Amino acid sequence: MSKILLVGGGGREDAVARKIVESGGELYAALKNENPSVLELSREHLIVNELDYSKITEFAVKNNIELAFIGPDPVLDTPLHEELTRNNILVASPSRSAAKLETSKSYMRDLLTKHNIPGNIFSRLFTNQSDLEAFLTSENREFAVKPVGLTGGKGVRVMGLHLRNSTEALAYAKEILSKDGQVMLEERITGEEFSLQVFTDGNKVAPTPLAQDFKRAYEHDEGPNTGGMGSITDSDGLLPFIPAKSYDFALSVMQKIASSMKDDGNPFKGIMYGQFMETADGPKVVEVNARFADPESLNILSLFRGDFVELLYSIAEGKLRTDFSFRQSASVLKYVVPKGYGTKPLPGTISIDLDSMSEDVLLYYAAVSGTKEKVQMSTSRSLAVVGMAPTIEEASAKVEENLKNIRGEYYLRHDIGSREMMAEKMRNFRKS
Ligand code: GLY
Repeated sequence: MSKILLVGGGGREDAVARKIVESGGELYAALKNENPSVLELSREHLIVNELDYSKITEFAVKNNIELAFIGPDPVLDTPLHEELTRNNILVASPSRSAAKLETSKSYMRDLLTKHNIPGNIFSRLFTNQSDLEAFLTSENREFAVKPVGLTGGKGVRVMGLHLRNSTEALAYAKEILSKDGQVMLEERITGEEFSLQVFTDGNKVAPTPLAQDFKRAYEHDEGPNTGGMGSITDSDGLLPFIPAKSYDFALSVMQKIASSMKDDGNPFKGIMYGQFMETADGPKVVEVNARFADPESLNILSLFRGDFVELLYSIAEGKLRTDFSFRQSASVLKYVVPKGYGTKPLPGTISIDLDSMSEDVLLYYAAVSGTKEKVQMSTSRSLAVVGMAPTIEEASAKVEENLKNIRGEYYLRHDIGSREMMAEKMRNFRKS
């Protein structure tokens, strides 16, 4: 039995943990919260600050770990990969240097420019205030203002959306500049976003179904940005409101990124997650991340059919296997979060009647502790409820029907994947 180390204790890691155990792996988890599902699945666990790479390496060595998988992005930006490799442990996640694809937005944009990879947009890095001021006051366009490094999905602010005018954009950009010494401005683009996650061994890439996530806290895509309130996939692996040729385009972009990084001597092994936007001018690259998306990976892993442990070995060993498939169902995920999530979260407890949940609904535990039946929420996302059915609308309804089995003070976006939401997306798609 392979001994596998999993780092992280969120919803994404709960989904990964299940696949590892289902494929016969012996799970060892290093996580900061007492996630009841991950703990139940693990042979041994270590409650630890996930950035403490020395303690995690020590735990891995002590338990004779053969292969490691790193879930959260901040952990990719530590020497953990290097330390595990130095101890002859295989790692199915990118090195710190390859993870720059996510940890440095300027690395990603420069890579696209250098290798003429299509889908790039105008972006500029600023390291001093006078250049920033001169630029923003001379431009009529709208921009997204972004920290260069990791933001937990919450640091990006967009003119016309979160920033009312160039004065507010300048103030926010200056705030980032004084904190980080650098700030990115990217041309504002509009349209439907979609996510494509691929497995890659640094050479070949293998796609997973296209997904869409919902970052805004409130229904109808209003309110502050969050880590993600839910996500959808469709039964054919595409999305009905995204042209199939845009999926092909996105996949070719991901393949070109993997090949370019290999050519540059910085090969990327692991899961690469591209966020794209379908604009009037075709699909554009919004971000490229160095890990599974949360929530979209929970949809993908719920549908995954194959030997996940073998797949992880094939990634780490540079011999990507593609003998896996995805169940041909649509899926809708809605995150149960504490009331006030996004502004002033009020964590409480929720009770779950596990025996009454439908067969086609899976629950994943996120930033919580307690037991699987009585969950103690933190200020972050708590419980992912994933419904699977022939259509997105039916999968959404399946989640709703099962909410009666989850009791307590919580908030959830009911609109994700609903008939009304899908009808509106299709109306907009036909108009475009
Ligand atoms: N889906 C948002 C993220 O994983 O960053």
